[in-house]
Amino acid sequence: MTVVMLHRYSRCNHRAAAPGVANPSLVHILGYMVFCRAEYAGKTESRGMDLSYLEIKGGVPLCGEIEIQGSKNAVLPILAACMLGEGVCIIENCPFIGDVEDTLEIMKMLGCRAERDGRTVSIDASEVKAYEIGGTCAARIRSSVLFLGALLGRMKRAVIPLPGGCAIGARPVDLHLWALGCLGAEFTGRDRIIASAKRLHGSTVKLPLSSVGATENTILAAVQAEGDTLIENAAREPEVDELCEFLNQRGAEIARLEDNSICVRGGKRLKGVRYCMKADRIVTGSYLLAAAATGGRIRVRNDSCRNLQSLVRVLQQMGAEIDCRDGATVLSSDGRLFAVPYLATAPYPGFPTDLQSPMMAALCRAEGKSRICETVFENRFRTADELKKMGAKIEICGKCAVIDGVEKLRGALLAAPDLRGGAALVIAALQSQGCTTIRDMTYVDRGYESIERDMSLLGADIKRYR
Ligand code: EPZ
Repeated sequence: MTVVMLHRYSRCNHRAAAPGVANPSLVHILGYMVFCRAEYAGKTESRGMDLSYLEIKGGVPLCGEIEIQGSKNAVLPILAACMLGEGVCIIENCPFIGDVEDTLEIMKMLGCRAERDGRTVSIDASEVKAYEIGGTCAARIRSSVLFLGALLGRMKRAVIPLPGGCAIGARPVDLHLWALGCLGAEFTGRDRIIASAKRLHGSTVKLPLSSVGATENTILAAVQAEGDTLIENAAREPEVDELCEFLNQRGAEIARLEDNSICVRGGKRLKGVRYCMKADRIVTGSYLLAAAATGGRIRVRNDSCRNLQSLVRVLQQMGAEIDCRDGATVLSSDGRLFAVPYLATAPYPGFPTDLQSPMMAALCRAEGKSRICETVFENRFRTADELKKMGAKIEICGKCAVIDGVEKLRGALLAAPDLRGGAALVIAALQSQGCTTIRDMTYVDRGYESIERDMSLLGADIKRYR
């Protein structure tokens, strides 16, 4: 393991840093990383007994208009960024989802004033003195790790539990630690992450993997560092650019360069700002796949799929008609889809790993054999077992799932295996014959405001029981 890491973690290049800056204590960080990789296996702290479930009567084509919620994977780093600088930040179109509520709890624990008025959240971090995050909230969600960069940026110290999140793979945090180490942070701790930095300095951080979270954490610390930081092989996901847009509106100077690196000018004064979240592209994609699979015609009012072109191309290949214009998307389908001979998930602009399970569900009744390969996470096919209970024919071969389309899916008693897997089961149930029950819906509520409300708006026969 260490050999692999040494290979992966070539020296931080201090081209842009102040002269005479020592290398991060790699042995120190490595020891910690080995611990993170070896013992951390995507624990997901549940919110206790989850009694809520959905009942869905399938076979109804989806028709109508829908407004998509604000983006989960953009608002979470933006909330962490509200810890930085001064002034009150007003976040509009902030979705009502479990991960946001947990994040707001964490921020209140740290001394933030966080108030919600409908979908508008106001954050005042002026009184923040604490830097230690405890409790179950942080251990439940993946994005709690982003408070490492935010708290180091603000307090030069941070103590956080190992983050949670969907059990879709090991989900180590070694890249986060290594990248923050390049800026001068040091780490100790066994069952939690204890971070400190005498000072944060600019650096050139060449990420071995274009990790979304590690890119975001580096940005959160770099905006408060002395000097400039260049993040090479930075993640290209739109949510990273939305974080940069938010911070630039606050007074930061962050630019995405032609080679997709991100340059951060450290030390700029950050002020309060009013910011409106963009639509959640993964929720948009989930709903488009649901409409394609059930047949029907839906209009997504506030998302033109500008950041979903990889999905649009595949949906057209499957036989759906899509029209993206004037900020909206219209999808029409007769419900009988063509199979997709080969599809691999990949970092943006590739096909999103978060739509892999919803796509698998949509392909269960497609004509022919489809193959989906998951290249981002190592354990993201757990939905297949639940889909097979409905009569789906799916075989997992290593990193790939082979789906042999069947004429019909039958209703069944299912359990959501994770956030996007739960949404996939809803897509399967909507196109099946008979009634399906899906329990453990708390997973889905972490990322979808109210999937039953939205599907009902589009004509589905779906009820939530709590
Ligand atoms: C973000 O997770 C998203 N979550 C995920 O969405 C999304 O699937 C993922 O990016 C990829 O797009 C949030 O933004 C809150 P990564 P993140 O770091 O940042 C490995 C959803 O359903 N890696 O880009 O955790 C990692 O194991 C969620 O909304 C390391 O090895 O993803 C994975 O194989 C699920 N070491 C790959 O990189 C590290 O330190 C990509 O992970 C970090 C990551």
